[in-house]
Amino acid sequence: MLNAIEISPKVWWVGGIDWNERLFHGYTTEAGITYNAYLIMDEKITLIDTCKATFSNELVQRISQVVDPAKIDVVITNHVEMDHSGSLPVIHKIAPNAQIYASAGAGVNEVKAHFGIEATPVKSGDTLNIGERTLTFVTTPMVHWPDNMVTYSDVDRILFSNDAFGQHYATTKRFDDENDLCEIMKQAKKYYANIVWPYGMQAHKALEAVKGLELKMIAPSHGCIWRSHIDKILEKYEAWTTYQTEEKAVVVFDSMWHSTEMMAREICDSFIAEGISAKLIDVKASHISDIMTDLCDARYVAVGSPTLNSNMLPTVASFLTYMRGLSPKNDQRIGLAFGSYGWAPLGPKQVYDELEKAKFNLPVPVITQQWIPSEENLAELQATVKKIIEDARA
Ligand code: FEO
Repeated sequence: MLNAIEISPKVWWVGGIDWNERLFHGYTTEAGITYNAYLIMDEKITLIDTCKATFSNELVQRISQVVDPAKIDVVITNHVEMDHSGSLPVIHKIAPNAQIYASAGAGVNEVKAHFGIEATPVKSGDTLNIGERTLTFVTTPMVHWPDNMVTYSDVDRILFSNDAFGQHYATTKRFDDENDLCEIMKQAKKYYANIVWPYGMQAHKALEAVKGLELKMIAPSHGCIWRSHIDKILEKYEAWTTYQTEEKAVVVFDSMWHSTEMMAREICDSFIAEGISAKLIDVKASHISDIMTDLCDARYVAVGSPTLNSNMLPTVASFLTYMRGLSPKNDQRIGLAFGSYGWAPLGPKQVYDELEKAKFNLPVPVITQQWIPSEENLAELQATVKKIIEDARA
């Protein structure tokens, strides 16, 4: 039987658990996904968000453990992306008189465009009394779609935050303190790096709005509900949304005959020699969405490719395309492009161009190496990295 879980008096989790989903538009979800929806049993029975369409039955079954779904009076659509709104047509069919609310403009338009359903618009600061409770809506545009908003319930002191503060993590245990905190923090960081990061400035504004609320729980639409570690996730979002970096380096590369790999190892060791923690990542061995998790708070990012048919390797190009899409527009991290070649240094030059387009601070020109680096070449590389670090610290 699919149970509903009471997370607070008269507030129920009625979502779906997608145990085996392993890819969410290009992002690997090794721990699965949940689509959290919440049912508030007040005078007006209120459903906050739905599930992916394929989880409609699961949603309806869980709601039915608490109440006849036909009795739902209000549906809040915090975000129209289909992992949260895909079951809206099913709920609309079962409870055709339920009033659906979405953000004015984008939210209402998106509900109509996706499902042909009319929604009632709400603006930031608008309230809705559902009986004992008053719900307040706060729009959070571009975190990470134009329509996003969050909903706050005053009696419960719960913020229904939709994608914000979410993690892709399938579990039957709904709360942060019932799960491995390291794991859910890791998944929260991966989620932020791969979904929210390009919109850090907007996310920071949303965070400022949230800070003024008295919070007993933050109930996102993915993963665990924050109740014992609200301070920790807010602290992390403060750091991530203000683009704070740590004194660490990530060296990402691919190689054909080990020349670029030799350079990558030398660069990595050079950072370590200067007291900076560093991670060496062969793009063949790590998924690009995992690389992003390592990269989003690294102060130094070095990327290397050899030259293949007058281009960088496709593996490196794939990573850079993905990274450039996610990188913040005001990126000030320190970048370093490098790589080897046989007769024309075109691969590493393309890497440099991509880092430049992604707005990295590039203190030295692209470092290229013909054929195989000698001990002398590697010593020069080490000296260059040392100088970059010294200048950055000055
Ligand atoms: Fe979880 Fe933007 O959808």
